Amino acid sequence: MTEYKQDDGDGHSITYLDTDGYTTCTFGKPTEIAKRIREMTNFKCRPDDVFICAPVKSGTHWTWEIISMMFKGKAETIERSKIENMLEGSSWDLLESLPSPRVLNTHVYYSRLPEKAKELGCKMIYVLRNPKDLAVSLYNHTKGITLYNYDGKWDHFLPLFLQGRTEYNSWFEYVLEWEREMSTSPELPIHLVYYEDLKENSLLEVSRLGRFLGVDDKDGLFEAISRKCQFDNMAKDKQEYLYPCGDEETFSFYRKGL
Ligand code: A3P
Repeated sequence: MTEYKQDDGDGHSITYLDTDGYTTCTFGKPTEIAKRIREMTNFKCRPDDVFICAPVKSGTHWTWEIISMMFKGKAETIERSKIENMLEGSSWDLLESLPSPRVLNTHVYYSRLPEKAKELGCKMIYVLRNPKDLAVSLYNHTKGITLYNYDGKWDHFLPLFLQGRTEYNSWFEYVLEWEREMSTSPELPIHLVYYEDLKENSLLEVSRLGRFLGVDDKDGLFEAISRKCQFDNMAKDKQEYLYPCGDEETFSFYRKGL
């Protein structure tokens, strides 16, 4: 495990953590992040765990909120951050203490997911977003969170992203792994959600998601959740449950949502 810098040769660099060739941020406790990345395939799963698997900046917070509300049976703001339920970002003791069904989330490649999740047939929600928008979102994320200490130009960031040298490595490799897996194992309980569809046809997509998870659409639950999770509502309602980056002036996990 090493920290290394992606330098633009012009006085700007991003510091990342490299764990056996896999890139993550350096926040929190780097040794713990590295340990979780290395041990992720052995993570202890329960059959009713739901995994949200998405490249970074694809709408993970949004999807997590929707599914968590579904399991709560109410269109009420979840009073915590999805980062607390993140495989690489949270303490595994904390994850172990969560009641079932757990809504877990991760940005790692398919090949790095817990083996047990695959064996037990845990449901997986695979979220994709147009990579052009995602790259812009990740650039703003990296510039906005001061812990990265990055003030580079888009012209520096974009090639790094395209070469798979930003956080969580290559978007392209990520998607190829999932495509391979879904075509060779079509029986796997995987539900694909496109960020853009969720934006454009929110109720339809929330309903499809709910049916996949076996949730009862009682008393218009899906419609209420779809409304409650619209960008403006979440940006306001989740304000006090955001992961504390200390950058409220320069950054929000709810940036534009377009
Ligand atoms: P932008 O930076 O383009 O605005 P993630 O949760 O995976 O980190 O993804 C973050 C992106 O999802 C951000 O994109 C954020 O604004 C967007 N997002 C979060 N909640 C949303 C919502 N309710 N509706 C639409 N977009 C949302």
